[in-house]
Parts: sequence; structure tokens; C-alpha cells
Amino acid sequence: MSYGTLYGVGVGPGAPDLLTLRAVRTLESVPVLALPRSSDYGRSMAWQIIEPVIRACPEQERLLLTFPMSKDPERIRPYFETAFSKIGERLERGQSVAFVTEGDPSVFSTFIYLRREAPKRWPGVTIEIVPGVTSITAVPAVTGIPLADGQERIAILPATYGVDDLADVLLKFDTVVLMKIGSEMPKVIEALKRTRLLDRAVFVSHATMAEQRIVRDLSELGAQRGDCFAMVIVSRKDRSGVLAGDVAFSSVADLAEERA
Ligand SMILES: C[S@@+](CC[C@H](N)C(=O)[O-])C[C@H]1O[C@@H](n2cnc3c(N)ncnc32)[C@H](O)[C@@H]1O
Repeated sequence: MSYGTLYGVGVGPGAPDLLTLRAVRTLESVPVLALPRSSDYGRSMAWQIIEPVIRACPEQERLLLTFPMSKDPERIRPYFETAFSKIGERLERGQSVAFVTEGDPSVFSTFIYLRREAPKRWPGVTIEIVPGVTSITAVPAVTGIPLADGQERIAILPATYGVDDLADVLLKFDTVVLMKIGSEMPKVIEALKRTRLLDRAVFVSHATMAEQRIVRDLSELGAQRGDCFAMVIVSRKDRSGVLAGDVAFSSVADLAEERA
């Protein structure tokens, strides 16, 4: 069978002018845009990002697909099945489908599941990924905190899956990026206090979007639940890099003491 091409298109962290030229070209050239959203009645963030930028194409189909935010595989499986079969119908008709992903399609994206499933469902289908500006680089841009310099190491954690080892991670890595914060903010703050790194952490929500919010004093946030587009970036010391040398810590206590 001759399928259409399946694209995974990253459209950046929110500001429409952070779409790449390749993303715009791809989005304008396909007959079907697959637009994820988290509820049947909600808006698609992916569509909100691209709408101001892409040329109106009256013939183009905008296929809204619901993927609820849940950790329960049984709850989300039927939604994935529905989405895969709708995409499959179009690919089997020979239509190319661009699955639009906020940020980059390789970072905590539903497209990863689709990418894995596609060759089993549509053998020989061509898959192309268009990388996007990820929130992991957008947050350093809006806060002015570099991700890594010289020999520094970076850790990226999905906080909602647990932050019990956060103090150890903060010990081993120079920069820690906490994504998917959800209700874990109090635990994040607690671990930052334990390592005396609270003042080295910055909270950012909706980076690069009109609603962007940057909080440099995390104690202001209290038990507040992080929103869906929020991140905490922790940089454990001023940049070391190759020119300044590095400071090594052998234990959480050692690190906390240095910060005291
Ligand atoms: C499902 S992941 C998607 C990540 C996306 N694929 C990327 O490359 O940025 C969603 C998480 O990314 C982070 N995120 C995405 N966009 C963001 C933004 N504009 N500002 C801050 N954090 C953002 C938040 O931590 C959010 O919980």
C-alpha cells in the first residue's frame, strides 16, 4: 500500500515566531493537520501556536485528537486507539498527516508513541520528524540561566513521576530542569530547601507566550499547583565552565554546607 507521509512537527514553546521555516513549510504543504488537545472540549495548544503563522488552506483538514492527561494506561488507551485509527484512515488514503507537537516531538511528546506504533500499523510508511525549539531551551532563554557550560552536566526530570531523589540529583548535576511539575511543587521546594538551593531555582510558566510568568523567589509559590506549562530550572552555582574550573561536592551535606 502507498501511504501518505507521517510527519511529527515541533512548533516550539509558544511564541509563534519560534516556529522554524521547515515547520511552516511542512504544515502548509500537508492535507491533514493532526492537533492534540487534552480534553474533548479544550483548545489545542499546538493550534494556538501555529494559527497566527500558517497560511489559511481551505482544503486542509484540521483533525482534533484528544489525549487526556493521565498516568493510567487503561484510561488513555482508548483515546490513543481512536487517534491512531483516524490518522491511519488518512494515511491509507495516501494523505500525508502532520502531527503537531508543542516544543519538540522527541521531548515528552505523544508523537513518540505514534512514531513507535506507525511501522506496525502501516508497514513501510515514511516518517519524518521536524525538530522544534523545546521548552528546555526556551526557559534558559527567558531567565538568562545557561543550561550548561564547559564540563557541566544537565539532568531533566519529569517531576510528576516523583522527586524523592531530587537532592541526590542536585548533587550530581550542575543544572536540573524539572518539567511536568503538577502537584509536586511542595516536594520540589522542600528538596531545594534541604540542599539550600532554593535561591538558585527559578519557576517559569508559559515561557515565550503572552502569559509568561517568571518567579525567582519560589517561596512565593507555596503549595500552589504548577500549571501545565511550567518548569523549574535549578543552577547549583554560578557558572564554572572551562575558564573558572569546577567545584566538586561529595555529599548533599557538603553541598548544603557550601551554600550555607
Ligand atoms: C508534555 S511536556 C511537552 C514538552 C515539549 N514537547 C517540549 O519540547 O518542550 C509538557 C511540559 O513541558 C514543559 N513546558 C512546555 N512548554 C513550556 C513553556 N512554554 N514554558 C514552560 N514550560 C513548558 C512543562 O514542564 C510541561 O509540563
